[in-house]
Amino acid sequence: MNIVVGVTGGIAAYKTVHLVRLLTKAGHEVTVVPTEDALRFVGTPTWEAISRHPVTTSVHEDVAKVRHVALGQNADLVIVAPATANSIAAMTAGLAGDLLGTTLLATMAPVLIAPAMHTEMWRHPATQANIATLQSRGVHLVGPAEGELAGGDSGPGRMAEPEEIFVRATALLSAGDLDGLRVAISAGGTREPIDPVRFLGNRSSGRQGVALAAEAAARGATVTLVAAHVDAAVLAAAQQPSVRVVPVGTARELSAAMKDAAADADVVIMAAAVADYRPVEAADHKLTKAEGGLGRIELVENEDVVAALATARAEGRAAAGQTIVAFAAETLTNAEERRERARGKRERKGVDLLAVNLADAEHGFERPDNEIEVIGGGGAVIATASGTKRQVARALWDAVLASR
Ligand code: CTP
Repeated sequence: MNIVVGVTGGIAAYKTVHLVRLLTKAGHEVTVVPTEDALRFVGTPTWEAISRHPVTTSVHEDVAKVRHVALGQNADLVIVAPATANSIAAMTAGLAGDLLGTTLLATMAPVLIAPAMHTEMWRHPATQANIATLQSRGVHLVGPAEGELAGGDSGPGRMAEPEEIFVRATALLSAGDLDGLRVAISAGGTREPIDPVRFLGNRSSGRQGVALAAEAAARGATVTLVAAHVDAAVLAAAQQPSVRVVPVGTARELSAAMKDAAADADVVIMAAAVADYRPVEAADHKLTKAEGGLGRIELVENEDVVAALATARAEGRAAAGQTIVAFAAETLTNAEERRERARGKRERKGVDLLAVNLADAEHGFERPDNEIEVIGGGGAVIATASGTKRQVARALWDAVLASR
């Protein structure tokens, strides 16, 4: 989504840096439009680096692209944080003296403002009347919070925290799509210990599951992400206030966490690669060649987690109307054979949708992109998607919504 973040001249501008970071991390295109005054608190290089877009305050730059109206017209959301008493007055009057003013006048997108000022200024009838006028025009308000202010005094006037503004922004962007949906997603690959230093594992990086979580959160869902050995750098994409991450190690830990999360989830997606077998017993010390314990490892089958979740649903131990999605990474290169296998797997596991992808040296694991087919009711291919794992996530969520 395209988001314009207007920054006006208050000390809280430094907190807006974190807000912009949260928004870009969630996959949004963010254009920061500071006022001249705002640049006295946080400078252009910071805004450009954090938003990865050029920053200007002036209506006279990029005139050929009619930037002063284009920004507002193309925005899906405009946020003003911090919104000072002066900028709130300017908005109310419809002043168009700078790029932020023209953007606010040109936009049809929702506008969210996060006021920040001293308590006396917030309480002044002029400010209160301006706020009432803006709200009557549909402008959304977040904060101000009570707390310590820049002068050491205390009271209402402190800008809402970036996380809170982010949650409100996300809700405004996604209203009517995944809004209010509770989602449980597993990602990554389990590791089954052989001894304290060895394990049985797989190549899943968790990228696809993390992308599904980030996309769901960006569209308004509340997400529990059960992450099995997902790198912190990969997980970062889903670090948002509406995503709760539950780290797990083994298949049994993943099973317990998913059963817990799925109990009241509207949608369950099993994107994790779960070990089908585990060593009967993990040795309590490092096995040695001399001991002969490594030549033959006795395995016992793990529970099929997604099948167990489907059974729980069938027995009424899950939220009504729950949708369950499984993944299957297959090495069959013939597309029709792969589909046939996926159809059988969907039936066997009792899930609604099964996303199947080819997993070989050039596809699937440990890569930024992916290519899937989604098998739905009756074995029909209801969607196909290829591209970045985020793009695939977007398409899969569209398919989930269409199937509900
Ligand atoms: N899965 C699971 N629990 C397991 C193994 C797999 O919940 N113990 C889930 C995966 O998260 C994935 C789906 O089942 O969503 C696909 O699993 P896959 O390993 O392809 O299927 P299997 O039943 O193991 O079939 P096969 O070994 O015959 O390919």
